[in-house]
Amino acid sequence: MTGESLELQVGAVAAGGSCVARAPDGRVVFVRHCLPGERVSAVVTSATTSFLRADAVEVIEASPDRVERPCPYAGPGRCGGCDWQHVSLPAQRRLKAALIGEQLARLAGLERDVEVEQVPGAPDGLGWRTRVQFAVAPSGRAGLRRHRSHELEPVDFCRIASPDVEAVGAEALRWPGAAGVEVVAAGAQRLVSVTSRNPARRGRLQAPAVDAGVLVDGRPVRAPHGIRHHVLGRSFEVAAGGFWQVHPSAPTVLAQAVLDGLDPRPGERVLDLFSGAGLFAALLGERVGPAGSVLAVESDPRACADAARNTADLPHVRIRTAAVDAAELIRAGRPDLVVLDPPRAGAGLALTHALAAMRPRRLAYVACDPASFARDLKVLLDVGWELSSLRGYDIFPMTEHVETVAVLIPPAF
Ligand SMILES: C[S@@+](CC[C@H](N)C(=O)[O-])C[C@H]1O[C@@H](n2cnc3c(N)ncnc32)[C@H](O)[C@@H]1O
Repeated sequence: MTGESLELQVGAVAAGGSCVARAPDGRVVFVRHCLPGERVSAVVTSATTSFLRADAVEVIEASPDRVERPCPYAGPGRCGGCDWQHVSLPAQRRLKAALIGEQLARLAGLERDVEVEQVPGAPDGLGWRTRVQFAVAPSGRAGLRRHRSHELEPVDFCRIASPDVEAVGAEALRWPGAAGVEVVAAGAQRLVSVTSRNPARRGRLQAPAVDAGVLVDGRPVRAPHGIRHHVLGRSFEVAAGGFWQVHPSAPTVLAQAVLDGLDPRPGERVLDLFSGAGLFAALLGERVGPAGSVLAVESDPRACADAARNTADLPHVRIRTAAVDAAELIRAGRPDLVVLDPPRAGAGLALTHALAAMRPRRLAYVACDPASFARDLKVLLDVGWELSSLRGYDIFPMTEHVETVAVLIPPAF
């Protein structure tokens, strides 16, 4: 079946960025490189007993939302970094809104229209990524991975990488002995982290001369080893490998949404779960003041070291290096406010049940996966919580990814 050509009428968009169609034998087909309403000729790329995956290779009837791809490396069988280079930006945001709405209906039983908002910067959806992970071929050339593949697409540039990342010129350099190169950049601050191909030779690899801080297999070789960011009047230093949002305006947009949604008051007790380098902890710590407190919980020791530095002027902010654990949080006592910003897997049912029982005055859930968010939201809605606001942000243009910030209020508040 793989390699077979099918003519397909394309239906709605599905999680993962493909659209759904039906093969002549009735099987569901997840089709990339197309848009709802299009008629396409597609080639099957993989098959299971219940569904097929396919790439649209020819458009028979095009959607009005289709545009010329700005990136020459995007398209069937090519770079897998972007899902929707062929889609106009307003239509990308509508598709993301539809995906959120569908997950809310399916997993949380909630009918709700969500708008996905454009964020400041990169109005054409290009040049925004401040961190890019290149894979390196045995020849030493850096490239990007093809979709669902270990194969490399050699590239001379990446259209969604920021000009600061591109200024390092990773694609033009040779990286012998490397398996991967990560470039992080903000303005003139640049960091390159190289990973060895051969684990037995870890740390011995010679990186080419670059105008950037360099780490080899996590070992600092050349300063600087972190990047300083500015958000809502505060400065945050993030070490190489630590989490920081990759769209340059995302930290400000998300932090402002959390502050607006939680409306922190002096003296309140805050719990910041999955706290990374302390973005929300620091800003909430400023708002609740020394009469209040913030407990930030994060499992990555490097991120916790960053968070400790980033909140050093706020002694009422405590950073705990630990995996978020529901039972332990209950023992820590009832907070007034909670912000949680978990990885794609979401908070999970046990933690969400525990948070529901703690009944903070308000809870802000920052989510990068609408499905896991909708699953967790159902737990709160089922015990009477109200979804006070839900905003979607287009902080990953050209991809199917989207960020949401939900504000929830417990019953009887
Ligand atoms: C989406 S990031 C959010 C970081 C931070 N809130 C921000 O806005 O920059 C998720 C964070 O959760 C951390 N993490 C992942 N699993 C965890 C766990 N089980 N317990 C605690 N932290 C975890 C990751 O290291 C990462 O820093």
